[in-house]
Amino acid sequence: MACSCFPEDRPAARGGERYNFAAGPAMLPPAVQAQIRDELPDWQGSGLSVLEQPFTGAPFKGLMQQAEQDLRALLALPPNYRVLFLHGGASCQFGLLPMNLLAPGQSADYLESGHWATKAIAEARRHAPLNIIASGQGNGFTALPEPGEWRLDPQAGYCHVTSNETANGLQLQEFPQSQVPLVADMTSDFLTRPLPVERFGLIYASAQKNLGVAGLCLLIVRDDLLRPPRAGLPSPFSYALQAEQQSRLCTPPSFALYCAALMLRWIGQQGGLEAMAHAGRAKSQLLYRGIDASDLYHCRQRPADRSPVSVCFQLRDELLLPRFLAAAGQAGLFNLQGHGAVGGIRASLYNAMPLAGVERLLEFMRDFERRHG
Ligand SMILES: Cc1ncc(COP(=O)(O)O)c(C=O)c1O
Repeated sequence: MACSCFPEDRPAARGGERYNFAAGPAMLPPAVQAQIRDELPDWQGSGLSVLEQPFTGAPFKGLMQQAEQDLRALLALPPNYRVLFLHGGASCQFGLLPMNLLAPGQSADYLESGHWATKAIAEARRHAPLNIIASGQGNGFTALPEPGEWRLDPQAGYCHVTSNETANGLQLQEFPQSQVPLVADMTSDFLTRPLPVERFGLIYASAQKNLGVAGLCLLIVRDDLLRPPRAGLPSPFSYALQAEQQSRLCTPPSFALYCAALMLRWIGQQGGLEAMAHAGRAKSQLLYRGIDASDLYHCRQRPADRSPVSVCFQLRDELLLPRFLAAAGQAGLFNLQGHGAVGGIRASLYNAMPLAGVERLLEFMRDFERRHG
């Protein structure tokens, strides 16, 4: 969808419903978007916008505390875990994890499960020796390696997994009891289901999918993994130093943090993580059933590993893809193109996507198949 910052250049708005299936930055719940708009000029009667609040002032500190409390309540987070609100996105953590968690010369275990795990591995390798415990490369990342095949090293500093492979449409359904701290990139399925938090040493997620807008990376880390910064690591990138300063060692990404606080509240109001998981199953099962029943669409992912949040599929006639995407956009169904590295179609069904959006997409897909199948 071409867009301009200047209202006079924008295409005339089409009537009817619109659904944004983008992988991220993703759609926000309308209620959250409305609250951001309504209180933007005057936040909580302070006479100032939230964009102008000093991060060391009591009101903003209160917002950070509230966000942390809401997160702790949603996840039933044990007291020995710290919550950090950081800059830099998940990609920045790819390099910072080995720098923060490993002793000099120590290695880490990585599961090579898809596009994002491959990125995490390439970056971490610049800073530490790695052991690939299993890989899905051989099957083109259409299935996850079975946990029984993972070759874990009991001496590793941590074991890294990607809970949801956003580009490949795969989700880890179970998390192993690991001898070494389990570290998970949960960028695309954070807060979409209840989690056995005690199994993890560290969880991290960029915010722009299920937790608001871009600019914030949320990190949950077990106390005992915080170690003094290694030589050369800038202080704002040290988990231990950020934890000591309650994520205020430098100015935190305040607007993204405010949006995350609203999202955490919204998820709680919807019934919490069980409710998110229940709604997610209903949406994704409907879509996968529609794909499996069709002659035009097909899904290459092994059914047991299919992601409920990143539904990736193909057209049997790939030449129809540009026409499919253009017609979908005209029908108010935006950003359905697959990840650049994978191609095809991808419908991101994060928490904010209502069931009505998936029903509308299926109706469109059936109509497209009738015309082009
Ligand atoms: C699983 C996963 N990890 C990491 C990233 C990178 O996030 P960021 O661009 O915020 O660094 C993404 C982005 O889509 C992702 O889906």
